[in-house]
Amino acid sequence: MSDAWRRTPISADGALGAAAEHPGRRDPRYLARRRAFADLARGHRVGDPSPPVDYTESEHATWRRVHRALDGAHRAHACRAALEAREEVCVPADRIPPHAVVGARLRQLTGFELTLAGGVVENKRFLGSMALGYFHAVQFVRHPAVPLYSPEPDIIHDVFGHGIHLAAREFAAIYRLIGNAATRVETEKALQIISDLYWFTLEYGVLEEDGRPKAYGAALLSSYGEIERIGRSRIRDLNPLDVLATPYEISGYQPVLFGARSLTHVADTLAAFLDTFDDDAAARLRPRD
Ligand SMILES: [Fe+2]
Repeated sequence: MSDAWRRTPISADGALGAAAEHPGRRDPRYLARRRAFADLARGHRVGDPSPPVDYTESEHATWRRVHRALDGAHRAHACRAALEAREEVCVPADRIPPHAVVGARLRQLTGFELTLAGGVVENKRFLGSMALGYFHAVQFVRHPAVPLYSPEPDIIHDVFGHGIHLAAREFAAIYRLIGNAATRVETEKALQIISDLYWFTLEYGVLEEDGRPKAYGAALLSSYGEIERIGRSRIRDLNPLDVLATPYEISGYQPVLFGARSLTHVADTLAAFLDTFDDDAAARLRPRD
């Protein structure tokens, strides 16, 4: 997950912040499980294989429940490119797939691999790794009390969202485009601008298909609650400067989404902005109010 999620109730050591409303915050067993996942990820170097995980039956059951819900929701609300990509990647109905299995399939299809994250990954590493064909993904599972919405990205989000994306060359090219821009900049401001564009496209983007908004963003594809609501969001035309002027909800539903005509339109729009983007260009932009 990116630093764009930094206000979510997770830290790299697996602790859930006291201030945040998190369904697992008062569950000692869940907290211990999260710390164990964080320990597995500690010291992970980009590109190292993720360690195997012995998921519990309860965790597999959460996966099954979300899988069932998302099956129908995707047919109704996902864009055609996401539906086609989903056919290619390993999204089993009954068990949580290991990183190694998902990653091997993605490598075959687009050259991308999953690399392990324990929690928050700072923007430079998260975004920059995309240029090298690595996507930071977690292994933990959301709390079972609220399976259809997660306040933070978990393995369900990473597989149903980014895993689906990275099975398709058109999506993978957008990840690389964003990653390449991130490798060229150093300032926090420039990285945050790239992160914001990433947020409103690869996490929350929609395409107009047959006169209706259809989801392609990973946060939408992986959340039954969110994908069901896209018809209620205000859809604006994708424009980087408008994106950067738009506040967003980190842990809630997005009132504004940005729509494009196609993934090619998304890629072209981002490339027109990012291909010449650097720290100086970032410095000239006004900060978000
Ligand atoms: Fe994500």
